[in-house]
Amino acid sequence: MSTPLLTAINTHLQKGRSSFHTPGHKGRPQLSTFNFQLSTDITELPDTDSLFEAGGAIAEAERLAAQSYGAYRTLFSAGGCTLCIQAMLRLACKAGDTVIMGRNAHKSAVNTAALLDLQPVWLYPNSSLLYAPEAVEQAILKHPEAAAVYLTTPDYHGRISPINKISQLCRKHGIPLLVDRAHGSHLPFISGAAELISGADMYADSLHKTLPVLTSGAVLNIYNQSFAPLAKSAMSLFASTSPSYLVLCSLDSAREWLDTHGKEELERTALRVAKIRNLAAQLGMPPLNVPTDPCRLCLNTEPIGLSGHAAAEYLRSQGIEPELSDAQSVVLICTPFNTEADFIRLESALRGIKAANPIKNSAIYAWEAHTAHMSVREAALALHQRISIHKAAGRICGETVSTCPPGIPILMPGEKILENDIIFCAACGILEINVVK
Ligand SMILES: Cc1ncc(COP(=O)(O)O)c(C=O)c1O
Repeated sequence: MSTPLLTAINTHLQKGRSSFHTPGHKGRPQLSTFNFQLSTDITELPDTDSLFEAGGAIAEAERLAAQSYGAYRTLFSAGGCTLCIQAMLRLACKAGDTVIMGRNAHKSAVNTAALLDLQPVWLYPNSSLLYAPEAVEQAILKHPEAAAVYLTTPDYHGRISPINKISQLCRKHGIPLLVDRAHGSHLPFISGAAELISGADMYADSLHKTLPVLTSGAVLNIYNQSFAPLAKSAMSLFASTSPSYLVLCSLDSAREWLDTHGKEELERTALRVAKIRNLAAQLGMPPLNVPTDPCRLCLNTEPIGLSGHAAAEYLRSQGIEPELSDAQSVVLICTPFNTEADFIRLESALRGIKAANPIKNSAIYAWEAHTAHMSVREAALALHQRISIHKAAGRICGETVSTCPPGIPILMPGEKILENDIIFCAACGILEINVVK
């Protein structure tokens, strides 16, 4: 019998590492009300409703989820947050519209811009990697034709932009605010963070990242009721007609968990993470100095002379599997489904980190505003050629080229590739690139 993927997963699981990565359930389904039987993997039947023509059990499950999120309407997605982003942009924009987009947009948003022929006007975050309300307002004044403002927050590292203030400005100017909250679907249940991130017209929430939901389970939360009537059709435009009932059931079950235990459990996790953050600070790894997701642990390892990648390798050797590493930091996703044993193991690993001289000059991308020479759609859907990064100067980029840090794409489809981009890409190990032929 040859099952290479299953074998690889089993081999990985045998290492017994503590999971500080997605999915949020951490492999502990017994803690949720859903017991993952294969018989639950069912299809649209008179008894089981139908996701895109929901009028029965799915409609009721979505109604309860909307109640939990305080949303006007909530739609389930078994196609990840990607599907919610596609639907959200489709609902707010028609083909050809201008959208003011935070430059740290995930490639799913850029791909949607290509599919819908949207014209992004890129808004760069400030030096703290946050979007300031004033900068958003300036962009709106400069582009009164924009159909929407689209921001991604929290980012991978947990930084939260002040959506509450930004949303007030957007309302003042009569422009909808769409938020990719892929990494923060748990935040509405944590005091403090909830207020900061509230107020947008719609949110794409990737529940599987931080809540007890199967991978690819997500929801679109709609707060502006004018978007509700067409929401299902916008979502079905991009979705499979066979959504996984296992995933849908896990969303239903997570909502039940949120209603009964969520706030208490998430705030308990936040307190536990705060302790580990203090320990990390004592050990020379200072926390981010901006508002952050209280459950996300971003270990800044540069000051102790370790690249994030080296620190991640060390953590793995100590039985800790992080979510992400970059040149400067390691990111760990902590959820209520981590056990106390996981946290103790992490603390003990941190105490054992050997500090060296601080690293200087790790590759930090000083972003340059690029000029679009083609629309995102034209460039993304043109004939492409894959070439060495060293031969790419002056060519038109055909794809989203991203690296961490700062998680802000270096290049978007349609932009001309500059010498600096090549230097930075090469420093980050990006050695080939898709260009327009
Ligand atoms: C910021 C952000 N937005 C959207 C997505 C897409 O989410 P999904 O994988 O649930 O489709 C991701 C995935 O990592 C992400 O990091």
